[in-house]
Amino acid sequence: MSVYESGKNIISLYYALMKAVQVYGLNNDVVQKAAKRFSSYINSLFNIYPRITLVRYRDYIFFNKQRLRFEIDGYASIQFVHDKLKKSNIKSLTLSPGIDKDEIITFASIFKEEQEIFLKKFSEKNFDHIEIEFSTGEEELPDFLQDGERIRKTYFSALSTTRNLMHNLETKKPVDIRSSKHIVYSLIDSLFQDEFGLLALTSLKNFDEYTYNHSLNVGILSLALGQRIGLNKNDLVKLGTSGILHDVGKVIIPKELIYKSQKLTDEEWETLKQHSYYGVKQILKIHGLDEIALTSMIVAYQHHWNYDGTGYPAHRQNQKPILFSKIVRICDAYDAMTTPRTYVPIPYLPHLALRVLWSKRNICFDPILVKIFTQLLGQYPIESCLELNNGEIGLVVRQNQINSALPIIKIVVNKDEKKIDGKLIDLSVQKELKIVRPIYLQKYGINPASYFVQDFKELKRADKKYKRSY
Ligand SMILES: [Fe+2]
Ligand SMILES: [Fe+2]
Repeated sequence: MSVYESGKNIISLYYALMKAVQVYGLNNDVVQKAAKRFSSYINSLFNIYPRITLVRYRDYIFFNKQRLRFEIDGYASIQFVHDKLKKSNIKSLTLSPGIDKDEIITFASIFKEEQEIFLKKFSEKNFDHIEIEFSTGEEELPDFLQDGERIRKTYFSALSTTRNLMHNLETKKPVDIRSSKHIVYSLIDSLFQDEFGLLALTSLKNFDEYTYNHSLNVGILSLALGQRIGLNKNDLVKLGTSGILHDVGKVIIPKELIYKSQKLTDEEWETLKQHSYYGVKQILKIHGLDEIALTSMIVAYQHHWNYDGTGYPAHRQNQKPILFSKIVRICDAYDAMTTPRTYVPIPYLPHLALRVLWSKRNICFDPILVKIFTQLLGQYPIESCLELNNGEIGLVVRQNQINSALPIIKIVVNKDEKKIDGKLIDLSVQKELKIVRPIYLQKYGINPASYFVQDFKELKRADKKYKRSY
């Protein structure tokens, strides 16, 4: 059972217990049974986890660092526990091995009380296996969200898998679909744990060969969009793999054409367009062909098809691309627009790239998917740099679900225009700070990605490429 499922089960069992405690006396059979179910489930989880921690941050609940989503199934229970933790000013709740039915019932009986009574009773009674951390200030960001070490490792190992896969195809070495499947599973886990932590890494643009980096970023963005529209895990694996493989046909296109800085001639353009068709050919060469590979072939073929029936390879206007191709089409365009390339050295600012997508809805892109993609990335997507009314510059590191116009930023340039490793600021909390305008951070010689991957020695390589690209 995944961390995510365990978390959901705990919440729903606890919800059932709380409902029973609110209606019946503590010795009632219904309460006793609900507490027993909760306690035996928790104790079975201690075989896997040393402790169980629920953390609340803003509108989110995390179970052992994994964010639980509000879904139709289980919505009431997660909402209930979230609201209760918030009202009681609880930041985290940790249960440790040894907890039994009676301790759980005692805790549930005071957890239902108003904040003051709860605080008083919690300090009076001895809870040996329940620890609470109260919020001290305004909605502090949990430590593990600031860290993201595991997510960074997943990103870099996904990048090296993508690089190997494409390199092997290029050099006609055998390739197995299992390696990419495995990496897509870890990306999905990271996404469930911390969507924005993973999305932040797509700011790493020219770290590797353009196609490798771009392919992985498109895979991640597609997964995030797929998750938002409620795709199940099987479909997410197909979508993520399709995103990573969408441009795999480019391995056959001459490099000088891909990196050409002048305008392509008509003939060269026709050659480049062949990459959709070559993509199918390349995926056919991969060992272990299955439904995932088949979907990836369709997406590789259709990812330049437009919503209005135009695009390449030529097709009948009434032939519609599959959902996954429509998703990849959007993520591909967004990542390409926000990446410096030899023929477009200055990329679009992220919020402007979103505007371009929006302006081409119904023409190139599916309007509903563009809307959901825009909601996902927020008004100022991660990696946007914002000039503030106090003269400082902040890098967007996380969205606020409540208000997408006021993200969480990290101060990266001070009032004296000096590069700093400043503090995190939630603009929806610190209302005196106003956004003046989004800017290009390269003006200050800073690669936004450096703040997301700071511990990696490889970043030096990325930095070199970054400077070269402007
Ligand atoms: Fe393409
Ligand atoms: Fe692409």
